[in-house]
Amino acid sequence: MLVAVGDTHKRLRNVAISLVSITKSKPEFLNDIERIAVQILNSWKDKQQVMFCEEARKFSFNVIIKQVLGLTSEEPETGKILEDFLAFMRGLVSIPLYIPGTPYARAVQARSRISSRVKAIIEERRSRNGRSCGVRNDFLEILLSVDTLSEDEKVSFVLDSLLGGYETTSLLMAMVVHLLGQSPAASEQLKLEHEQIRSSKERDEFLNWEDYKKMGFTQNVINEALRYGNIVKFVHRKALKDVKFRDHLIPSGWKVLPVFTAVHLDSSVHADALQFHPWRWEAQDQTCKKFTPFGGGSRCCPGSELAKIEIAFFLHHLLQNFRWTAEDVDQPMAYPYVEFGKGLLINLDRCSI
Ligand code: HEM
Repeated sequence: MLVAVGDTHKRLRNVAISLVSITKSKPEFLNDIERIAVQILNSWKDKQQVMFCEEARKFSFNVIIKQVLGLTSEEPETGKILEDFLAFMRGLVSIPLYIPGTPYARAVQARSRISSRVKAIIEERRSRNGRSCGVRNDFLEILLSVDTLSEDEKVSFVLDSLLGGYETTSLLMAMVVHLLGQSPAASEQLKLEHEQIRSSKERDEFLNWEDYKKMGFTQNVINEALRYGNIVKFVHRKALKDVKFRDHLIPSGWKVLPVFTAVHLDSSVHADALQFHPWRWEAQDQTCKKFTPFGGGSRCCPGSELAKIEIAFFLHHLLQNFRWTAEDVDQPMAYPYVEFGKGLLINLDRCSI
């Protein structure tokens, strides 16, 4: 989808947008996210330290694989897809010369294995639905009934969703945890917001869409981490015809890289741009062109809301169960993709609730 243009892009995009709008407020989707968050946090029970980036990746992969293919972390298929998916990602940015043993060749092989697995799941679903064994609530179930996409496009769509929803979301989670660790005032206010929401519910009651809508300060923290952390720094464009932009002419065929970081960290656009200050979003418009963490226009990220819900729900349980400090200074670095070099090792302190 990232490389498709014209009508193909439009067809894929329409499906993506309708999938997200159907799914995002569904209780099944929201409950799955929460269940996976609680499962990860329960696994920290006897730990004093965790590599947060690893845990965040586990979380975002388990959420997206459940959402897209209906698979849980316990199913053996999930582990195999994850292994192939990681090989696929390692070869994604590499010289596209098929030489056996190179990351590119491994990525091509891994993609073909994922494709066979997804096709097998599709086949199994078709035969099961024929026997009317109940309907699942995942993307694949909806995709099966879409007749504007070919079989290969459906497989490709599954891969796009995994790719789009995995690394970016987990990195943003790590960024939020890293930045909150350095801002006790923001952590305290956030904790209060989530305690208030929890106090209006039964102890083990699931969060719902109305609860999510009450997480105003959480949204501010996530927006600020997006602005300050710049998970996606730039996007790729190509001028398909001569484009006049202010006093410049961009000739047809030229590549253009709109660099979001340059705007997000410009103090003439965002006051004190080099400060992490979530409160700025109380007054600032989040939909303005000066804030584009999810891109813009006809390629704007269709998964933005899903990513935010995941992070908000994870924070809800994290804040009520743990306090944390970073073990070491582990500044995120962009090379060119943002990474925590040491995996963001954090010390945990269990809160009494
Ligand atoms: C923090 C999380 C995320 C960030 C920062 C992010 C950022 C972006 C950006 C900047 C683009 C635009 C790319 C371009 O213009 O060339 C994009 C596109 C896309 N994203 Fe996301 N994304 C996130 C989460 C997700 C999630 C959770 C999903 C899927 C469930 C997803 C799926 C996609 C897809 C399929 C596209 C291609 C859209 C198109 O070409 O029309 N993203 N994302």
